[in-house]
This record gives sequence, structure tokens and C-alpha cells, in this order.
Amino acid sequence: MDSIRITGGVPLTGTISISGAKNAALPLMTCGLLTDDRLILGNVAKLADLATMADLLGQHGIAVEPEGRSLSLGGRITNAEAPYDIVRKMRASVLVLGPLLARIGEARVSLPGGCAIGTRPVDLHLKGLEAMGAKINLDAGYINASAPQGLKGADIVFPFVSVGATENILMAASLADGVTTLKNAAREPEITDLVTCLIAMGAKIEGIGTDTLTIEGVKSLHGASHAILPDRIETGTYACAAAITGGDLFLENARAADLGAVLSAMREAGIVITEEANGFRVSRANGLHGVDVMTEPFPGFPTDMQAQFMALMAVAEGASMVTETIFENRFMHVPELNRMGARINVHGSSAIIRGVKALSGAPVMATDLRASFTLVLAALAAAGETTISRVYHLDRGYEAVEQKLAGCGARIERVS
Ligand code: EPZ
Repeated sequence: MDSIRITGGVPLTGTISISGAKNAALPLMTCGLLTDDRLILGNVAKLADLATMADLLGQHGIAVEPEGRSLSLGGRITNAEAPYDIVRKMRASVLVLGPLLARIGEARVSLPGGCAIGTRPVDLHLKGLEAMGAKINLDAGYINASAPQGLKGADIVFPFVSVGATENILMAASLADGVTTLKNAAREPEITDLVTCLIAMGAKIEGIGTDTLTIEGVKSLHGASHAILPDRIETGTYACAAAITGGDLFLENARAADLGAVLSAMREAGIVITEEANGFRVSRANGLHGVDVMTEPFPGFPTDMQAQFMALMAVAEGASMVTETIFENRFMHVPELNRMGARINVHGSSAIIRGVKALSGAPVMATDLRASFTLVLAALAAAGETTISRVYHLDRGYEAVEQKLAGCGARIERVS
């Protein structure tokens, strides 16, 4: 198993090019199930999770062919089953459920289990599809869903915001009979990207970017070409890398508008953010101040940036509090940061961070995707050498980490 070795203490300077968003690419790839025509997705990052999605789509009969930075998807659905072996590797596999049901009236999808960050049920996905007329039963670890007469439009009100449930229902409703209204829908930029692609495929959707989406089902969708938006979480993560090392990075292709709450918190902490053509610059000349943040659905502070921001707060002056409201167990990085000299206590869903002057390198272990990069950030700032094991988590969602960081001066290498 690979590990990453970092010798900290170098302020990062230069340009980092932001890749296409993983969490947009995953649902967009499942759109390949919604049409017999060819779907071309541009600006696709090379990531392990996207390879897993390509495997899954292949099992359903949809071939996914890389063409440079694009993916070309095409084929006819030959199989309605998403097996446990793939779903257990990646929970986003459940996003094939809505498209399969809408397209062929049946789906058998392994139930995703819990994961390192929480229990993560899929009840909202299932209730939404049931409201549209699907018959669903759970048996032997699988979701068996059918809609022999097709799905019907419905009024669906989510009791709380779910990104994945919004995506599944959006895709299913695009091919349902009649109008579906989705209230309390997620407004994340990745949802807007999905809606944009669905509209390019012939879907009729109103309310883009708002929490109420109205979808008038159409008989069929056609092929389209869509460029995936830049990854806002990768952007925020590298912004933290500039800040924690006291460096100066230009984040090329980055969209500041997708990171409003994160950039506000960073500015409050003393980080300078300057918007330029085709990206923005992040630099820090002076000390960092502690700032409190609480995770919320978009446009609030994203849960996927919570761990990385905590690394920054670990070396800020004064105390700060990070409250996690989306997932119940997303503080696995805390004991590892503490092993590097951070002073963080967790009380329920909040972590109190007392800033220290410096972190020190240590052997640490990655526990999930965002927690892995948090350890990379801490290592970049720490005195001495840090070895991070289980870096396969990192490869799921960050493209070319060592190349991007080494290109800006980091002393980083992958050890097999
Ligand atoms: C998406 O997960 C992202 N994944 C996650 O990114 C992200 O952390 C999360 O949204 C929140 O922003 C992808 O886009 C592939 P949710 P998703 O449904 O859709 C509960 C990363 O690091 N819930 O919005 O699974 C759920 O347990 C990852 O890239 C139910 O109770 O998240 C959670 O507490 C990790 N029932 C909350 O809602 C449901 O049916 C929000 O989850 C669905 C969700």
C-alpha cells in the first residue's frame, strides 16, 4: 500500500490548476444511462472514484471511453444490477437507481452501508422514488425497485437537504410521466451542473440554482456534450495549502462564487484572496486568527471543507470552534492532527481547537478522502517529516496531488 512522505516548512508558491469536480462527474456519468445516444463529458479528472463509476456503468452495458480529458459514454442498458462489490467501494453508486428505474422500469442496487463519516442512509432517495410510483423492497442487502408502468410526476418535499437524493430524483423525474416538484432540494453547484447537462439532453427543468425544482418529464433524452465545472472542494483545499504554509498560490480555473462561505471564513482568519482573470490568488503574509465555522448545505460552509479548515485553525492564533451538522462522525482526523501536536478536543458535534505555534511531523493514517488531505496540509506546515499511510483515500478524489504540490515547491514523494 502506498504512503506519502512530506518534509514540511516550505511556503508554496506558483500556480495550481483546478481539475473538474468529482462530485459533479459522478452523477453526470450516470446520465449515460438516460439515453441511447452518446454523452460526452469534458474536463474530467483522473480519479479512482470515476474509474469505479466507469466499471459500474460498464456492468450496466454503458461503455465509458476516455478521450483525452473527456469521457465518451454510450451503449444500451443490458443489466439492472449494481452489485455489492462495487457499491461498497463507492456510495455514489446508488445514483444509478433513479436513471435505471426511469429508463427500464427496474433496478437492483446493493444498499450502501455506513462509512467512515457516518451511517448515511438512502431513505430520502427511496421515499422520493416511491412517491413517483416505484415499488421498492429491501431484501438480502439489496434495493429491489420496479416501476413496470413507468414513473409518474409527484410533489416531493425533502425533510432536510440531501445532495444525492436531489440528484437521483432529478434524473428519474426527467423521464417520468408528468410534472415533479422537488422542494427543499439541494442547491450545491454540482446540482446546477447536473441540471445544466440534463437540459442540454432535452430535459425540461425550472428553478435552476434554487431549492425548488420543477421537472416536466419528457419521453426521451438525447445525447449532449457538457464540460464539468471546476472542483470547489479541491479549490478550497489548495487555498488552505497556500494559507497554512504562508505561501502564495494562484488557483487557475477556480470559481470564487462556488466557495463564498469558505472564502469569507478564510478572509476573517487573515488570508488574502484576490480574484483575477480565470481564477483567484490566495496568500498569507501575517499570522492566522481563529475563526468559528459550522457546516451547512450550500451556500453554507461545506462539510467537505471542514477537516481541511481545521488543519488551518490548528496553527491559528487563539481558539476556534468547528461544528459539523451534516455527518455524525466526521472528526476522524482529530486524533491524527493531535499526534502532530495540535490541541483539539471534540465535544459532540463540535471541535474546540486551541491554536499551537507549530506542528511536528509524525507517522499518521488517512481515514477518508478529506481527512487524508487534512493530514497533507498539516504535514506541509509541520517541522520535520510526516508519513501518511492509506493514501488510496486521497486518490479517490484528488488528481495528481504530488505533481501539483511539488510544482509549487513542496517536498513530497509517494512511497510504494
Ligand atoms: C454528497 O454526499 C457528496 N458526495 C459528499 O462528498 C458530501 O459530503 C455530501 O454530499 C454533503 O455535501 C457526492 O456528491 C458523491 P447527502 P451525499 O445526501 O449525497 C443524510 C466527499 O468528501 N441522508 O447530502 O451522500 C446523510 O446521512 C463526499 O467528496 C439521509 O439521512 O450526501 C447526511 O447526514 C463525502 N437520508 C445528510 O443527509 C438520505 O436518504 C446529507 O447527505 C440521504 C442523506
